[in-house]
Amino acid sequence: MSDSLLNVVADGSSAHLSSFRTRAAELDAADPLAHVRERFLLPTGVIYLDGNSLGALPAAVPEALNDAVHRQWGTDLIRSWNANGWWEAPARIGDSIGAIVGAAPGQVVCGDSTSVQIFNAITSALRMRPGRTVVLADPDSFPTDLYLADSVANLLGAEVRRVPVADVAGVLRAEGDAVAVIAYNHVDYRSGELRDMRGLTAAAHDAGALAMWDLCHSAGAFPVDLDANAVDLAVGCGYKYLSGGPGAPAFVYVAERHLADFAPALTGWHGHANPFGMEAGYTPAPGIERARIGTPPLLSMLALEAALGAYEGVDMRAVRAKGLALTDLFIECVHALGLETLTPAEHARRGSQVAVRHLDPHAVMAALIDRGVIGDVRPPDVLRFGFNPLYIGYADVVEAARLLGDILETKAYEDARYAVRATVT
Ligand SMILES: Cc1ncc(COP(=O)(O)O)c(C=O)c1O
Repeated sequence: MSDSLLNVVADGSSAHLSSFRTRAAELDAADPLAHVRERFLLPTGVIYLDGNSLGALPAAVPEALNDAVHRQWGTDLIRSWNANGWWEAPARIGDSIGAIVGAAPGQVVCGDSTSVQIFNAITSALRMRPGRTVVLADPDSFPTDLYLADSVANLLGAEVRRVPVADVAGVLRAEGDAVAVIAYNHVDYRSGELRDMRGLTAAAHDAGALAMWDLCHSAGAFPVDLDANAVDLAVGCGYKYLSGGPGAPAFVYVAERHLADFAPALTGWHGHANPFGMEAGYTPAPGIERARIGTPPLLSMLALEAALGAYEGVDMRAVRAKGLALTDLFIECVHALGLETLTPAEHARRGSQVAVRHLDPHAVMAALIDRGVIGDVRPPDVLRFGFNPLYIGYADVVEAARLLGDILETKAYEDARYAVRATVT
């Protein structure tokens, strides 16, 4: 198999495959997180660069699910709500997620989907800023965020203004007194651009508005520091970097100072102050419990709880350092292949994923997946690669780039079988 594309001599200095491999081996040998990879069950022959979409399977999950099904459900039956802490699970797991995203206990609850949490958070933000009717949202946001913001706006007679992230501070300065909340993705799902959470949150506060962040592509990938950044509201999913499994429940963060005013639209009985009083009217629970809605998917929740154990003893600053080093190396490799990246070069503006441009991304990704390198595609022209520092190593990075180079050089992606587009890309 040819290595020639990675042997490109760019601007007079050679970027040889062997030197990339040597560097990767040195970085792997010195990696303080190398041992964490054993906490995941990864298939042999696969380089998994899609943990930003569906995290890999943590080794503790099968046993936890086995216990949840056979002992807790099968034997303890309904007694598990008390005996096995089912009732407390959303807040307990919320606190575990909180520890990963920089939230002190009592501000995060786990449950429902990110979409549902977005709906509740934006509704509540509008109610928490009466008289203000504008939601600022990113036109490039993950679509569900925009759909839900529009839906809330329709219901409450508010307006969603799509303002690119670069213009938010200016709009807030000029017309911020109409803005109730800015609702932005912490990391752009397509380009991997990391947004200035601290600066934009402060700009929202200066205008008297709230800041709501979607952490889907940052929770578990690097420190988020919600409390330290004075964030008001945040949501995120459990199935990406947190590796909670397909359809894992999401979470919502409500800063302590807002808990008494948090008034979500969906008021179910699990969020009631006295759920087993079976009262006819709704009274919200005093704390973060008011963000609960209905009966949670316990099996998924317990899988997520077991998955979070992979973070035990892991310093999120080390996760960040490795994520940047992995993406630095991958960007260098793909640039050596002559490819263009959309992901910012500056560390302060980069999440833990890399977007590479190609005019035929679906075929290229299908050919890559066929060779054991799993990433995904986002329209119109993005090959997306996510790097979870908990289980990706530097040698994986170089090997993935080598296979990408090989597919491009041999035009293997032009094979007819890669022209058939899958439903989920
Ligand atoms: C930023 C962001 N928000 C939300 C979602 C999905 O929402 P849900 O978990 O409700 O499907 C995604 C999915 O990739 C996402 O990237």
